[in-house]
Amino acid sequence: MANPSPRRMLPLLTSPHKGGRSALTCEFRCGNACAHEVANASENAYFGDVVTSVLSRRGMLRAGALGALAAGVGAAGLAGAAPAAAEPKPEAGAFGHGGDRGRGGLRFAAVAPNREDRLVVPEGYQSAPVVRWGDPVLPDAPAFDFENQTAEAQAKQFGYNCDFVTFFPMGSNRGLLWVNHEYSDEALMFRGYAGGNAATEEQIKIGLAAHGGSVVEIERVGGSGQWRLVTRGRRRYNRRVTAQTPMRFTGPAAGGDLLKTAADPSGTTVLGMLNNCAGGTTPWGTVLSGEENFNQYFVLGSGAPEADKAALRRYGIDTTSTTPSGRRFDRVEERFDLSKHPHEANRFGWIVEIDPFDPDSTPIKRTALGRLAHEGATTTLAKDGRVVAYMGDDSRFEYVYKFVSKKRYIPGYDRHNRTLLDEGTLYVAKFTGDSPAAEIDGSGKLPSDGQFDGSGQWIPLVTGNVSHVPGMTAAEVLVFTRLAADKVGATKMDRPEDIERNPVTGGVYLALTNNSNRTAAQVDEANPRPSNRHGHVLEIVERRNDAGATTFAWWLPLVCGDPNDPATYFAGFDKTKVSPISCPDNVAFDRDGNLWISTDGNALGSNDGLFVMPVTGRERGYLRQFLTVPIGAETCGPMITQDQRSVFVAVQHPGEVNGASPEAPASHWPDGGTSQPRPSVAVAWHTQGRKIGS
Ligand code: FEO
Ligand code: CA
Ligand code: CA
Repeated sequence: MANPSPRRMLPLLTSPHKGGRSALTCEFRCGNACAHEVANASENAYFGDVVTSVLSRRGMLRAGALGALAAGVGAAGLAGAAPAAAEPKPEAGAFGHGGDRGRGGLRFAAVAPNREDRLVVPEGYQSAPVVRWGDPVLPDAPAFDFENQTAEAQAKQFGYNCDFVTFFPMGSNRGLLWVNHEYSDEALMFRGYAGGNAATEEQIKIGLAAHGGSVVEIERVGGSGQWRLVTRGRRRYNRRVTAQTPMRFTGPAAGGDLLKTAADPSGTTVLGMLNNCAGGTTPWGTVLSGEENFNQYFVLGSGAPEADKAALRRYGIDTTSTTPSGRRFDRVEERFDLSKHPHEANRFGWIVEIDPFDPDSTPIKRTALGRLAHEGATTTLAKDGRVVAYMGDDSRFEYVYKFVSKKRYIPGYDRHNRTLLDEGTLYVAKFTGDSPAAEIDGSGKLPSDGQFDGSGQWIPLVTGNVSHVPGMTAAEVLVFTRLAADKVGATKMDRPEDIERNPVTGGVYLALTNNSNRTAAQVDEANPRPSNRHGHVLEIVERRNDAGATTFAWWLPLVCGDPNDPATYFAGFDKTKVSPISCPDNVAFDRDGNLWISTDGNALGSNDGLFVMPVTGRERGYLRQFLTVPIGAETCGPMITQDQRSVFVAVQHPGEVNGASPEAPASHWPDGGTSQPRPSVAVAWHTQGRKIGS
């Protein structure tokens, strides 16, 4: 390890990430997932079906005046596990975890929805780019030249489409940023890009190098909340991780047959990470980065062995087409051709741990955390010190997961702590409503008990090398986690994105971004709207507020959309005062426990933005828009620094709108004039040094 001391200054606040998207976004980010059939064709019951099936039992139990318990028993009975105990309703103060501590204290005037090609911040604030696509990361990197790109240069420069951002302070005026580079958009990166067989090999290689992540050293500007890239000196921590960086597997599935390929007969090493979306940090100061829509990079699944095809399909990989499409990474690296290397796809879709303080360290794919379209992973500690990682699988009708380590975190014992994510239990969530199914009518109207809420269970899938799923080995559960979760009755959700624990209240907040495919017959209390274009936010309150618990209560504090739409809900707050919000994606918290939400794919016609909402106290539900990003962009990050004087946001895919190209850019952000748009991390701060939002 290069230098352990800055690591101790880490905040334990972790921060990590759709509707109205452009055709370019759909193609390049997720391989047009929405145009394909839903990958989850399992018979696994919709939760509405579950509620209906247990209603008669619930009626009997209600005679004992324990409605919430009844819901728990119903769900537990179906999963064959112990009954869940009753949890209190999520009223402010009822949990004994937050009470009225929510300080609110947010005093800025909300930014109005708009379509401006700039980053709009409230009065009294300023913003500036910190690091842009193509900026030199390694000290010997050439300056960015849009017209003369090379793969060699890109591998040393800041990658494309920045998503997850986290900040590691080193003293009060220096720090490191880690940033995920989710995907490349070749149609905006190259003039005259023709794609497929017509793409040049150099373009394909630039695409590979534009993926991954970056570590960059930044410095405070003056005494302000502004930060800028350090552009001089050694920059010892600066690093590029790409789709070709050597990585290794650890955990129960490492070395197993399912991970072995011709290039890696050991099943323990792999080149690169792909489509890294959101992420989190660990208590020991490393980054967790989620490989999301990895499926789109693989071609010719039609030629994979028949026995492999069901699992490939379950992960959204086409097994019928005999014509390769997409970025055609297979033209420069044969491993992306599944007819030749069918196991290569098994080697993506993991949580990757990266040490930002050791640029020579090998990133690790932690197999104990399962294989999904990982949005990200955020950590907290159970009451007994075990490490807990919350994770969403971002596709329509997919599930929510958590990992609980076997052993406890020991502050300062780095060697021990770095083994914690290799052994533990992986769970999947089941959400049960407490209102009669007839009251969840798809209108968005709250049921008669006043809330979309209920109880839930974490259903164990695998513990170490022991599978809890009949018919599947532990390695199979970890490599084909979706198939395992299908078998145990997990709840199909409206695209689970970021999920993170509130450091003040202990509540766990989950963004469910949207799901236009949910039908009226498929609504349930946790996903109560059909054709859900605007998404919602769900809070999990773990039993005894212990992240290690296996049962929980939940409710929907936020049902997104235009507040004038009766099918929206802002935790009961006066809807005439709140900002419209659509497609919540990333969530983060400031030190006061306020919930920050960034959006992706605003289906209300505005640019995407960053919002903040108190979650306790008198202003609970008072959601306000703090900033908007330029045309075509989504808002990622966000990261509020521990001193709360700066907020970093990743401005991903500016200008990515239908019909845009380098010949006709839709955005000129951040460089202005007639420049090409460049995905960038930006910072916003108050001109008088006030706390963000105050
Ligand atoms: Fe890459 Fe789930 O957003
Ligand atoms: Ca996301
Ligand atoms: Ca209810």
